[in-house]
Formats: sequence, C-alpha cells, structure tokens
Amino acid sequence: MDSKKTVLVSGGAGYIGTHTTVALIEAGYDVVVIDNFSNSEASALDGVEKIVGRKVVFGEIDTCDIKALRGVFERHAFDTVIHFAAYKAVGESMDEPLKYYQNNLVSYMNVLEMMKEFKRPNVLFSSSATVYGNAEELPVTEESPRQPATSPYGNTKQIAEDILRDCCAAYEGFRGIALRYFNPIGAHPSALIGELPSGVPNNLVPFITQTAAGIRQSLSIFGNDYNTPDGTCLRDYIDINDLARAHVAAVDRMTDGRMQTRYEIFNVGTGRPVSVLELVTRFEKANGLKLPYRFAERRSGDVPAVWADTARANKELGWKAERDLDDTLRSAWEWEKHIRHIQ
Ligand code: WQD
Repeated sequence: MDSKKTVLVSGGAGYIGTHTTVALIEAGYDVVVIDNFSNSEASALDGVEKIVGRKVVFGEIDTCDIKALRGVFERHAFDTVIHFAAYKAVGESMDEPLKYYQNNLVSYMNVLEMMKEFKRPNVLFSSSATVYGNAEELPVTEESPRQPATSPYGNTKQIAEDILRDCCAAYEGFRGIALRYFNPIGAHPSALIGELPSGVPNNLVPFITQTAAGIRQSLSIFGNDYNTPDGTCLRDYIDINDLARAHVAAVDRMTDGRMQTRYEIFNVGTGRPVSVLELVTRFEKANGLKLPYRFAERRSGDVPAVWADTARANKELGWKAERDLDDTLRSAWEWEKHIRHIQ
C-alpha cells in the first residue's frame, strides 16, 4: 500500500465526511473511514459506495475511545487524517457545554496524540467561519481577528485551531491545515448522499427543503430589520461538493510538500454574500415551487452578515467554488425528495 495516498477520515459518515470521501476516492486517494454513527447512519456509506462503485474501508469507532483509535493506527498506514468527528448543534452546545467540550476536544486530542505517537504528519481540521463572529470588516480574510466565541460549539473550533497551531510548532514533522467553512449546502448531484439532520433542522436549507416536502408548515425567516440590502442576514453559501474538493486540494498541498508554514488556515466559501430572502426566492425558482414563509424575530446569536475573502484559497490551494447556486439548490431538493420518497 502506498501510505502517502491513504487518508483517514473521522466522521466520514456525516454530511461533509461522505462528500469528502467521494471526492478523495475520485481524486485517487485510498480512504479509511471511521464513525460512531452518533449523528449519522450506515446507509450514508452505502450511498458513497454506490457513487464510487466500490467498497469503502470502514470501522465503527468512537474517536473518544483511544484504545479503539490506536487499533486503527496499527492496522492502517496513512499519513493524513481529516478530522470531522464532532457535535455541531450550536444551541445544544449552550445547554450542554460539557458534552461539547468533552466529545469535540477529547476526540480531537486523541487523534493528535495518535498522529504524534505513530509519526503520521498531516492533520486537516474542520474549522468554521463562526470563529470570525460579528466581523468589523467584510469580506473576512484569514487575518481578520477572531471574535470571542458566542457558544461552546464555536469555542471548541477556536480551541482546536489553537491546539493544532501549537502542535505544529512543537512537534517535528507535524503539519496542519484548518479549513474555515462558511455555510455548506446542497447534496451530491446523484442524490445518493446529502445532509441528514436529526429532529427539527437548525440550518436554513434543511428547513427549506423540509418545508417544501410538507414536513414543516412554514419557514420562519429570522429577522428582516438588519442593516442589509433586503433586511435579512447575509451568508456565504458554499456547495458541499465544492467544499469537498477543497479538502482534496488541502490534502494534495500537505502531501506534495507545498505548505509554506507548518500550520495554515484557509477560508472555504464562494466570496459572494446571499441574503436569506434571496436564497428562499432562488430555491423557489430553481425548483419551480412556492414556499410558505413568514418573517419572524431575529434569532439570538446570529450575526447580520459574513462572507469570505477567498483569495488565499484560490491562490495557494488552487481551488475555487464553481457550482452554480441554482444547481446547488436543485440538488438540495432532489436529496430531500430521495429520502422522503417523493416523486
Ligand atoms: C443561516 C441564515 C439564519 C434557519 C451555523 C453555525 C455555523 C455552521 C453552520 C455548523 C441565518 C437564517 C435559518 C431558519 C432562518 N456550523 N435562518 N430560518 O447560523 O449562519 O451558521 O451553521 O455546523 O457554525 O453557526 O447557519 O443555516 O443556521 O442560518 O431565517 O429556519 O438563515 O437566521 O441568517 P448559520 P444557518
């Protein structure tokens, strides 16, 4: 086995993990997926296997279990890990901070500990635009100051970035990249994989598609009195397949020895702000349907606007977002129809 070409993907059965696994395999990497299905389902990996046309190496492993994780490192020769495994519900993290600190940081430190022990050099970490908080200047660059986190979830992302930076500075041979995702949306064009939110979705696009499917009565647009062109919040919605390709570009960069410093950060967005209202209208037009919606109170903790300066990712990773927003919104609806058996 060519170890340089194998990537361990923790949380590989999740929304970003499945799409990234597909992109890595299509780019010629071998992938070892681990997941404990705490917020995903085994059927997600069936979707991946259908798309790539072969079996995916998989272990049902909780990354908080260091013994089980050590077994994965003993059995498989990989130089690179992409660490997705984490809880991600902002609101829940406010109610249960210890659950978030415990799971997200222990699993992450276990992975880093094993990377160090087994001398595996490359770590790719899933960070988030949430680290920028309510930014003073837009678009945000990687040099924009991080704001104090407003949730334990957001804090775990900031802490994890700092841990990676410190490990890269301290341990010989360690290299790290943090990708700061903006708002990932959409599904694979095959509609065989996509997002599977549990319960009532917090995020906008799953709520939209569930409303279109009749599962939710009406979409609430949180706030239309912001200081933005139409009064609703602005976000940078990045297609999940484009986001997956950014991981491949980052892994290429780490394994090809092109990193300029041992720890690097990249924004992964489109660079284009889209309002909530515009997204709803685009979804309706792209899919030829009408969505019941109403304006509601602002949601606490929401920032009025955030979008990415993508110059660094474009130049250094050689990556840019390509997929058309309407295609992305069509794929989101196709996926919802697929899982709900709607014709
Ligand atoms: C987008 C916009 C809402 C739902 C969060 C996390 C971030 C990342 C992605 C994930 C906002 C509005 C939403 C609804 C609405 N983490 N909205 N009605 O808040 O930008 O980012 O998810 O794992 O860390 O903070 O994304 O999709 O929740 O909201 O009007 O029913 O849609 O107010 O303006 P957000 P979102």
